[in-house]
Amino acid sequence: MSLPTITPRPDLYDDAEKWSVDQMRSEQLTRLQSAVRRSYDNVPHYRRQLEERGVHPDDIKGLEDIRLLPFTTKADLRDNYPFGMFAVPREQCVRVHASSGTTGRPTVVGYTQGDIDMWAGLVARSLRAAGTQPGDMVHVAYGYGLFTGGLGAHYGAERLGCTVVPMSGGQTEKQIQLIHDFRPDVIMVTPSYFLAMVDHVKELGMDPSETSLKIGVFGAEPWTQAMREEIEATCQMHATDIFGLSEMMGPGVAQECVETKDGLTLWEDHFYPEIIDPITEEPLPDGEEGELVLTAMTREAMPVLRYRTRDLTRLLPGTARPSFRRLAKITGRSDDLMIVRGVNVFPTQIEEIVLKTDGLTPHFQCILTRPGRMDQLTVNVEGTPGLDQARRDAIAKELSHQIKSRIGTSAQVVVLAEGGIERSVGKARRIVDNRDKP
Ligand code: DLL
Repeated sequence: MSLPTITPRPDLYDDAEKWSVDQMRSEQLTRLQSAVRRSYDNVPHYRRQLEERGVHPDDIKGLEDIRLLPFTTKADLRDNYPFGMFAVPREQCVRVHASSGTTGRPTVVGYTQGDIDMWAGLVARSLRAAGTQPGDMVHVAYGYGLFTGGLGAHYGAERLGCTVVPMSGGQTEKQIQLIHDFRPDVIMVTPSYFLAMVDHVKELGMDPSETSLKIGVFGAEPWTQAMREEIEATCQMHATDIFGLSEMMGPGVAQECVETKDGLTLWEDHFYPEIIDPITEEPLPDGEEGELVLTAMTREAMPVLRYRTRDLTRLLPGTARPSFRRLAKITGRSDDLMIVRGVNVFPTQIEEIVLKTDGLTPHFQCILTRPGRMDQLTVNVEGTPGLDQARRDAIAKELSHQIKSRIGTSAQVVVLAEGGIERSVGKARRIVDNRDKP
């Protein structure tokens, strides 16, 4: 069997997708200057921050002058809760979204009608880059509501001229029934929830490679190349990566092009990227790994300057869209970095190894405890159906050995029976931190 044939559609490209690099840089400068001006004029937080640094919007004469600007952090957004970062009167916003965050106040994001239009345009562009065509049916299983995934995907798919099935997350049986009966071409969902759906399809005695789905647009959480291979082999569909964050707008900040599948093309006509060293905050050259910092240059309701995403990645030169740089697949967030006995470990590294170990499913969780003074990592992972205890123990030993030899850290591994790991209907919870618990 082979993956479905996808025909790229350059005839449908946006103007920006045809720009030269020089044109891109020149547009970026104009847009950056406008964002700084609007922030300075209308957002007291930015006015204060710029004045404290002695910076005036007129000082932005080239793109490199972005370094004169302050960073924005999640804490800044929280301190200005709920609407303090808006650059337009609240009445001019047609929508708000909010990201929950694990603690404290949510961060609120506002959109003018113009922002919603821009967002729909970028999600449409992303879907097209993933291989979606006007007329395709798109099943949206990202959550609808304050989370940006569902509505962001929805408006973009409509904009491209697709038929949208606004299913939202959850009700796994119903999802599968609708996919079976409606025969959508494209699914938009978190990769972890998609895997839960695939399991369910198998439980029903159906073959996941026989669904109508040709393309998956998976994001909202880190996932690996190994996961892509697993999904493509099991489901005979293209698995592409979509990235975004509420603070910038939502999904559709970057999207992998189906013809290359080599990282996420960053729509830098709207979001200006930098990579910094997260400790020293110094900018790093393209190609080096560090924290992604993004500036939302064209947002009307909420321009955001130099937002520290906490996502760790690299900027790479453009390929399928030569004038747009790419983001390397995101390894994880700095918040997800586990330091186990001095060794840095991301859940994505565990995922790569789990997926390459026979007898394991992709459902796993990393549990951190601190029995004495040292952190301990336990990896709980579900085995494939029907394994006896002796076989599960043997697989656990093998995985533990692989983690030690490939990542360099000791981990206890427990292979659980089917259903042993909680399923999420949105972003998977990969780390359970019990270090403060007695
Ligand atoms: O997750 C927006 C989104 C919805 C993106 C649907 C893609 C698809 P937030 O809830 O604000 O917004 O979370 C943003 O999720 O900073 C990353 O840490 C992570 N993330 C999002 N997409 C990816 C991805 C949405 N493709 C945070 N790979 C971001 C890795 C991702 N991490």
